[in-house]
Amino acid sequence: MADTTGDAIPGTETVLDDGVRRRDFINIAAIGAAGVGGVSVLLPLISQMAPSADVLAESSTEVDVSAIQPGQAIKAVFRKQPLFVRRLTPAEIEAANKIDVGSLRDPQTLEERTKEGHGDVLVTMGVCTHLGCVPLGAAEGEVKGEFGGYFCPCHGSHYDTAARILKGPAPKNLEVPEYEFTSDTVIKVG
Ligand code: FES
Repeated sequence: MADTTGDAIPGTETVLDDGVRRRDFINIAAIGAAGVGGVSVLLPLISQMAPSADVLAESSTEVDVSAIQPGQAIKAVFRKQPLFVRRLTPAEIEAANKIDVGSLRDPQTLEERTKEGHGDVLVTMGVCTHLGCVPLGAAEGEVKGEFGGYFCPCHGSHYDTAARILKGPAPKNLEVPEYEFTSDTVIKVG
């Protein structure tokens, strides 16, 4: 019988009924097996990527704000990042409300950055929006910057009492994370 494959060495390949050469068939079969193998490898990977119980527990943080006196702030941790919770004095609230919101780089009122009925509790991330340093101003005796809020000494960003950027290179206000009051005195962040 004539060699229909045109191979240099007759007999190393044969033509199947549908015209697919045997070597191609072996390649297709190998790819198919790899595909099945790919799926079976992927499934354990996906299940490993699902967050474990302790990671889920870390995804929210509860803070009792009752002990924070007006003018004081505390540092907590939320998703491995610093979180500032601050109780504003009436003078700090007034100072924030005096600022023309339209003149701000990242326009937001204090009211928009706090929860209704809790306008004196300011919850923000303690992460400068410039390059991510932890600003000063949350701990006792720390410099609060030119506007009495927070100060990032890395490159000189000054935040006001509502933690809004007023001066320096930071492009945005300190971020207010998602949170809610679960009682009059406890907030749940995240
Ligand atoms: S990281 Fe805060 S000013 Fe640069």
